[in-house]
Amino acid sequence: MRFADRIDKLPPYLFVGISRKIAEKSAQGIDVISFGIGDPDRETPGHVLDALDAGARKAPNHRYPESEGLPEFRKAVTDWYYRRFGVTLDPETEALSLIGAKEGIGHAALCFIDPGDIALVPDPAYPVYEIGTMFAGGDVYRMPLREENGFLPDFASIPSDVANKAKILWINYPNNPTGAIADRAFFARAIEFAKSHDIALLHDACYTEVTFDGYVAPSLLEVDGAMDVGMEFHSLSKTYNMTGWRIGMAVGNAEMINALMRVKSNLDSGAPQAVQEMAIEALATSDEWIARNNAGYQHRRDRVVESLRGIGLEAVAPKAGLYIWTPVPPGYDAATFTELLLEERDIVVTPGSGYGESGEGYIRLSLTIDDERMEEGLARLEGWKIPPPPA
Ligand SMILES: Cc1ncc(COP(=O)(O)O)c(C=O)c1O
Repeated sequence: MRFADRIDKLPPYLFVGISRKIAEKSAQGIDVISFGIGDPDRETPGHVLDALDAGARKAPNHRYPESEGLPEFRKAVTDWYYRRFGVTLDPETEALSLIGAKEGIGHAALCFIDPGDIALVPDPAYPVYEIGTMFAGGDVYRMPLREENGFLPDFASIPSDVANKAKILWINYPNNPTGAIADRAFFARAIEFAKSHDIALLHDACYTEVTFDGYVAPSLLEVDGAMDVGMEFHSLSKTYNMTGWRIGMAVGNAEMINALMRVKSNLDSGAPQAVQEMAIEALATSDEWIARNNAGYQHRRDRVVESLRGIGLEAVAPKAGLYIWTPVPPGYDAATFTELLLEERDIVVTPGSGYGESGEGYIRLSLTIDDERMEEGLARLEGWKIPPPPA
């Protein structure tokens, strides 16, 4: 069989290797505790599940959905954007349903990238920005996210020939995997850079609702000029424990939304309408429910950070997101320290190098593990003396 080059170019999915190692250990009867993948462990709210029950029984929902989403869904999204961010959007032209943000992020490259075009992608990053670019035949220019810059890209360091050839600029705040946040001033710089080089600015905003210590994350679209060049991707997955239902949205510049809708309408037939009805209900969830859900993560964040500091790691408590991003001890790299944790403590974390070369030297721990298992895992770290690195 002769496959396309893009299949050979695909890196192994980050979590496949980890799952294999867990399986090997489990086969030996060892109980491995995973802080690996970010996938909420708690249930979708009951009122949202009720909407699925009702939606499943409506005959119109048994037929093909429209690619752009139900008008009621798009209205619920734009109402939510107004309520949450003070941003006014036209539900007809400036909002689109997605089969999860991942689907929209992957397809977005097809709207902008021709073979040989460049996408500016953060490093480390959620892998789909780069894979989508590769599928569209484009090249990636990696923007290092460095701790000393607050894990924000430095636009001034991008060579002008690269900037001029670039068609897309990806940003993601609150950030996976670093846990960094961005303010409106950063978004304004990104907008100015995108405008000055005629680049589409794509913001992955999946974690804006998972925040701690009273922090309220902004939307790119709050900032002047964003609607001229920007599109924002959002997800119900993390906010409402809905990863399994696959529903998200893209909002922003009408031409960009229209291009994505045209790509999607040729490749998929939209999100199941009963799931869109769940999303309408989810977007009306009370602030109290969200605060309670986030308080649970905040407790886990504090416990994980405390334990990591207890073994001498310089863990920082993030203001948002589902991850602790922490440097490995001197002498180790991301892979060797990840391996050590698995071998000596039966704990799974993700090596930062899996998110790009600037993720080298870090590991990521996810907070989507139930409290009891988390405490068991953290107990395995207590009193652990990290051995000297291999010579
Ligand atoms: C940064 C980022 N964007 C997008 C997604 C995917 O979201 P969805 O479940 O809506 O596809 C994830 C999931 O982990 C993520 O971390």
